[in-house]
This record gives sequence, C-alpha cells and structure tokens, in this order.
Amino acid sequence: MSPVAFSVVVPAAGAGARMGGPTPKTYLPLAGRTVIEWGLAPLLAHPGLRRLVVALARDDDRFAELPPASDARVQTVIGGASRAASVAAGLDALAADSDGPVLVHDGARPCLSGEEIERLLAWASDPAGALLAIPVRDTLKRADADGRVAATEDRTGLWQALTPQLFHGGTLRDALGDATDPAITDEASAMERAGFAPRLVEGDPANIKITRPHDLPLAEAVLAMRGGQ
Ligand code: C5P
Repeated sequence: MSPVAFSVVVPAAGAGARMGGPTPKTYLPLAGRTVIEWGLAPLLAHPGLRRLVVALARDDDRFAELPPASDARVQTVIGGASRAASVAAGLDALAADSDGPVLVHDGARPCLSGEEIERLLAWASDPAGALLAIPVRDTLKRADADGRVAATEDRTGLWQALTPQLFHGGTLRDALGDATDPAITDEASAMERAGFAPRLVEGDPANIKITRPHDLPLAEAVLAMRGGQ
C-alpha cells in the first residue's frame, strides 16, 4: 500500500522570549544540529511527504544555511505576528497542495518520532482532523495572584495538545480566517471554533516543545536514547 501523501507547514517565526538568549529557540544547537533540523528530520524522511513550507521571521538569515533548505520539497515563507498567522501564510504558500492532508508541526519540537507521524496519518481522511496529545497525568492547581493555590482543578478528560496536528489544508485555512484571534493557540482550536471536533491521538510525552533552557538537555537525552534518527 502506498503511503498517505501529505504536505507540512512548520511555523518557525517566533522569537522564543522565554529562552532568554538572542538566538531564536529553533536555531539553538542540539546534539550536533539545530532544534529545527531535528524537528524536520522525521517529516523529511517520510515517503509520503510532498511539500514542506517553513514560516520564518522576516529577518531570518539562518534557515537558508541549513541542509533542509536545499531539499527540493522545502520552501520558506515569511511568517506573521502570531503562530496562527504564520500557519496561515504557510497554507497560502501551499496553494493547490493545501487541498489534502496538511500536518502542522512546531519548529521548536525536535523529538517527534516516526511512530507518532504514522499514528496521526491514520486519521488523514477524517474531515475533523486529528492532533497528537497526551492525557494530563498530574494534579492540576489554579494559582492566585500571590502564587498560592486557589483551587484544585478536575483533570478528568483533560489532554495536553502537542504537534503535529493534521487537517485538510483548505478546511484549516478557512477556520483560521484572518488569524488575529488570540484564542487560537493551536490549529485544533481554530477547527473547534469552526464547529469541528478533531480526534485526539495519543502522542509521546517525549515530544516536548523547547520553551526554557533546561528543555535542551532533556531533548538531547531523548535523541540519544533513540540513537539519532
Ligand atoms: O512561542 P511558542 O512556543 O508557542 O511557538 C510555537 C511555534 O510557533 C514555534 O516554532 C515558533 O517559532 C512559532 N511561531 C511562529 N510565528 C509567531 C510565533 C510563533 O511561527 N509569530
């Protein structure tokens, strides 16, 4: 059976203010490459990949220097003021190829596994789409303004959304609209607002997003455990 054909949009236009340094988190060194190269690797290795669009900051001069930039399936586009706007720009660049399954994956998630991609692609023909997510494992506390516990929240049925998220590209583009609603923090939330109920597909807790400096050694340990990809 031939693999499901899909395209990919990678939002990588953020500054990553929580990391503290001058280098955007997508370009931080990780196990001999950059964070974004690790994030792209399992997607570029997939036989079903048709096109991959990376949304970059206007002044980005780093991506062009990396090996994936010379892959014929890869193109870049200038991202927007929000993650949603960057994804919308990527979908617009896909044009006719957005008429089919499109995976959206954070440039800041370097530990995606090939197995997670397969699990997600199993839902490629579902009109509501699907997203990788993990059930919340810990007890959830709501904080007050002083950093004290105001309440313990019921975690029943709660999941943490990861990426990739998989949708029909045209449907997602319509759902994003002008991409200015700050409540749209992932693609699924745009789809939900448009009346869809995307499928939750259990992902790997190791599929972390690089957010703070101590996430880097954690990602390095995950990649070492897998023996590189
Ligand atoms: O800041 P956060 O961790 O939510 O960013 C998730 C992903 O979205 C990162 O890969 C970041 O580069 C990207 N992003 C973007 N355009 C923005 C803001 C974030 O492509 N305006």
